[in-house]
Formats: sequence, structure tokens, C-alpha cells
Amino acid sequence: MREQTMLPLRLLTMLAAMLSFATFAARAAPPPGECPQPRFTGTAPAEFYERSNPLPATPEHLSAGERRFVGTPENESCAICHGRKGDGKGPLARQYDPPPRNFTCAKTIVGVPDGQLFWIIRYGSPGTAMPPHDKLTDEQVWQLVHHLRQLAK
Ligand code: HEC
Repeated sequence: MREQTMLPLRLLTMLAAMLSFATFAARAAPPPGECPQPRFTGTAPAEFYERSNPLPATPEHLSAGERRFVGTPENESCAICHGRKGDGKGPLARQYDPPPRNFTCAKTIVGVPDGQLFWIIRYGSPGTAMPPHDKLTDEQVWQLVHHLRQLAK
């Protein structure tokens, strides 16, 4: 082929490559806080999945769970992703795909057992932004589960 016909061809190939990159880069993370929220989280092993919260839902356990969830202004804890209200709209939420769970969404969370929540809080959700929390005691994790259960509407 003569150089004259090659040039437009090369330009076209370059343009196509740039376009497909742009489409890829523009694929935004799903909006945080959707309800119902698509849920692809791995299922806890049976010995966790079948557990129910061993702590009574006393005001003490509930408020301990809430304090840990919200954290402090310097260390926002779960709230930095899940939002102070647990609606999945924390300050970091937009950057994650899948987005943080929206605990206020009954349609998504009510059928998820206590033991599943415990397992994800303790070990994290691999391949997602949900980190493990292996320094928390069992009691602290169950207090968090009590707090999360209260948020569903
Ligand atoms: C860095 C961001 C981040 C932080 C911090 C974080 N999470 Fe998450 N969390 C996520 C994301 C993202 C998901 C969605 C994971 C998925 O889809 O599997 C998630 C999912 C969950 C789930 C869903 C379990 C299920 O089976 O549906 C629970 C429970 C949870 N988080 C609890 C917590 C608690 C409690 C804390 C604080 C101790 C916390 N998370 C801190 C990002 C975070």
C-alpha cells in the first residue's frame, strides 16, 4: 500500500484504540446507597452462617455497636465507607465497585443472617473494599451486628 493510504488507516486504528480506552475508563462504579442493592457477597461457611447473635440486644450493646460503627471524627471507622447512618453513602463510597452495603435497605439486608454479617465483618469480603477486622473481639463484632440490624427499614 502507498504511504498516502496508510496514514488515514493508522489514524483510524489509533482513534478506535483511544475510544475503547475512554469507554473503559468511563465505566463508573455503581451509585452508592441503591435499594434494593445488588449483592454478590460470598456466603459464610455453615459454622458461621448458622449462628445467631448470642448477645441480648440491650441498650448497652446497641450503643457500643453504634459508637464503634460511627467512630470518631479522626477515625471514622465503618462510617467512612458505609455512612454514619449506614445508608452506604460514606465519604469514600463513590470510589468502590461493588459499593459499600446499604444497611438501611431492608430488601437487601433483612434475609442476610447474623452469622453472615459476623463473618464478613471479621474476615472482610475478598476482592472488594470491605476489609477484615481481626483485632475486634467476638463481643465487639456481635455488638456491631446488633447495630446494623436496627438500621433496616
Ligand atoms: C474501606 C471501606 C469499608 C470499610 C472501612 C468498611 N466496609 Fe463494610 N463493606 C464495604 C464494601 C465495599 C462492602 C461490599 C462488599 C461486597 O459486596 O461483598 C461492604 C460490605 C459489608 C457487609 C456486608 C455483608 C453481606 O454479606 O452483605 C457488612 C456486614 C459490613 N460491610 C460491615 C462493616 C463494618 C461493621 C465495618 C466497620 C467495622 C465496615 N463494614 C467497614 C466497604 C467497607
